[in-house]
Amino acid sequence: MDSLEIKGGVPLHGEVQISGAKNAVLPILAATLLTREPCVIHNAPNLADVKTMCRILESLGATTSIDGGTVTVQAAKVRDFADYELVRKMRGSLCVLGPLLARLKKATVSMPGGCVIGTRPVDLHRKAMEALGAKVEIDKGYIVAKTRKLVGGEMFLGGRAGPTVLGTANAMMAATLAEGITVIEQAACEPEVVDLANFLSSMGAQIHGIGSPTLTITGVKELGGAEHEVIPDRIEAATYAIAGVATKGEVTLKGARPDHMKAVLEKLRESGVKVEQSKGNLTFKRGRGLHSVHVTTLPHPGFPTDVQAQMMAFMTQTPGISIITERIFESRFTHVQEMERLGAEISIEGPSAIVHGVQKLSGAEVMASDLRASAALVIAGMVAKGTTRVNRIYHLDRGYENLDAKLKKLGAKIRRVPQ
Ligand code: EPU
Repeated sequence: MDSLEIKGGVPLHGEVQISGAKNAVLPILAATLLTREPCVIHNAPNLADVKTMCRILESLGATTSIDGGTVTVQAAKVRDFADYELVRKMRGSLCVLGPLLARLKKATVSMPGGCVIGTRPVDLHRKAMEALGAKVEIDKGYIVAKTRKLVGGEMFLGGRAGPTVLGTANAMMAATLAEGITVIEQAACEPEVVDLANFLSSMGAQIHGIGSPTLTITGVKELGGAEHEVIPDRIEAATYAIAGVATKGEVTLKGARPDHMKAVLEKLRESGVKVEQSKGNLTFKRGRGLHSVHVTTLPHPGFPTDVQAQMMAFMTQTPGISIITERIFESRFTHVQEMERLGAEISIEGPSAIVHGVQKLSGAEVMASDLRASAALVIAGMVAKGTTRVNRIYHLDRGYENLDAKLKKLGAKIRRVPQ
């Protein structure tokens, strides 16, 4: 597995173009299974996860082609079996369940894999499919769902940590072709769910309440092909913004959506970062003094769990004690141990990490565990004096388009070491 070698202590400067959102494009690609007609998706990021999703769609009978940032899919005929070998690679593949069930009235989808960030049950996905009349069971590692016909129903998708993003996606997609009206209460409001709903609407779906916790979907007989431009990746955007200020640099994001990043912008401002908006660009630099901040991860529009690890890397450089409380995933602190190898002082108390600020980090060899933890270690490595080697970076290739090339363009001394 490749690793990244970083010579730290160099402030990042310059502009970075934000790519299409990974967590939007994956369910949107799955939604193409809902129609026989071709769908054209623009601004798709060049990521291992997008390629994996295309392979899953092909294994289900669709044809796919990738041309630059445009993915074309036609699912003229579809099979109902999504195999473990592909599905295990990422959690996002779980969202073929809803479209397959809607189209074929049966679906057998392997239990998914993905980042190890805590237990990731599928009970809410199951509940959603059952509310639409399907019988669902787990058999030999597969989710097996079937029904004679899907009928609209009411469902409450609030779990122990709030709404579910991919569960809402699955419910919404299945409901588009169910007979009658479906009401989803406590639906996820993440911009990626909104993007999927907009794509489904352009395919002919009838969805009301988009962006709110209550979605009302009136089933239609069939959906048609559509063309769609994926929203920019707010998590990638936050990662570069934080990398810039953590390294005492100044980074301008091109193409980011500040309206999707309110909680992150607010916390950065609170910590003393200046955020300037001009001509659609967002520039981040340190103000006169930095302050400690406390962050609690919450469903959107709260502070995203997917930016928690990167924010922690920044907190090692702000004065005083900062506290991060992780409310979405219970094991999402695997980066803490690795950051400690770089000299960070962080203690974990239940769901909270207590970060003692302004530590002098020094380069070391570290192991990347999940996608966002890997990004945080890269940030910490760019802050640290000396050389950091981030091992096992395959998760980064799953979720960040050309991370090393983009960072190099911003002045980072970073090198990919193939293995
Ligand atoms: N949950 C349940 N039951 C379910 C589903 C979820 O209890 O059936 C719980 C989870 O255990 C968690 C909470 O609900 O405590 C929220 O999980 P959610 O279902 O929203 O997560 P997800 O849909 O599986 C997506 C993103 C994650 C992101 C989360 C939260 C994709 C492909 N993945 O996962 O992204 O962290 O929403 O915002 O969209 C990442 O990109 O690095 C990543 C992990």
